[in-house]
Amino acid sequence: MSRTVYLNGEYLPEAEAKVSIFDRGFLMADGVYEVTSVLDGKLIDFAGHAARLERSLSELDMINPVTADDLAAMFRELVRLNRIDQGMIYLQVTRGNPGDRSFVFPDVSVPATVVAFTQDVPNLVDAPAAKTGFKVISIPDLRWARVDIKTTQLLYPSMGKMLAKKAGVDDSWFVKDGEVTEGTSNNAYIVKGNRIITRQLTTDILHGITRASVLRFAAEAQFEIEERPFTVAEAQAADEAFSTAATIFVMPVVEIDGQPVGSGKPGPVATRLREIYIDEMRKTAA
Ligand code: PDD
Repeated sequence: MSRTVYLNGEYLPEAEAKVSIFDRGFLMADGVYEVTSVLDGKLIDFAGHAARLERSLSELDMINPVTADDLAAMFRELVRLNRIDQGMIYLQVTRGNPGDRSFVFPDVSVPATVVAFTQDVPNLVDAPAAKTGFKVISIPDLRWARVDIKTTQLLYPSMGKMLAKKAGVDDSWFVKDGEVTEGTSNNAYIVKGNRIITRQLTTDILHGITRASVLRFAAEAQFEIEERPFTVAEAQAADEAFSTAATIFVMPVVEIDGQPVGSGKPGPVATRLREIYIDEMRKTAA
């Protein structure tokens, strides 16, 4: 079934939504994005995604073309039009179409291009992968130095996914100066006893919205939180490992570079945090 998508104020059949070849998103990857999950037809962690969008745009000197309220209304309309129960909304804002190619940012009078569409994922909660866990490989983090800005330059993360696929695993974890930064499209954690360890928020990682919620719920559930980098060897020797993102919630990681983590099966902490996260999100989805 053809989707109804959003483009610059209009809801259109997907085949009719067209963007210029001069759009800076297309020519320069000059744009930012957000992925917001939908549970029971409602938005989860919306405020966090709207706030991060604002921050990404401001770090790139782009004017935010949509208020958080308008964005929420637009997302809800897309969910309604496409009858999404579980899935995702992808939003992209680019610096628009200046009518030619130039390295210089166009004048602020050039309007941003705003695109959004839904992705139907009926088994977002009952994801088969959550039952077996992710196997990952580690690869060098060759991304640019401002990955805290959620830009659409996703070529290297995409290559990381392909390297994982070629190695017969599910994902790659990036390593910078000997320490894990994050996954191709998720934040990375290890568990040691009652402690959850994850890299601190700097320009080296994306400040995950799921990360913020999961760490808050983990603290409420009396886990200790340690925000610091860890190595692949420390992760391989940990009791458990997991990743978080809007698209996977909490995903157990059961193998790193061919070495099982803990029992080599999804561990109790990751499993419990996934349950808590889904329960809490169901309560607060709006
Ligand atoms: N990616 N780190 C990176 C590099 C990411 O791309 C993402 C999200 C995250 C987790 O952020 P959040 O919890 O806010 O989803 C961490 C999205 C899901 C994507 O690119 O599809």
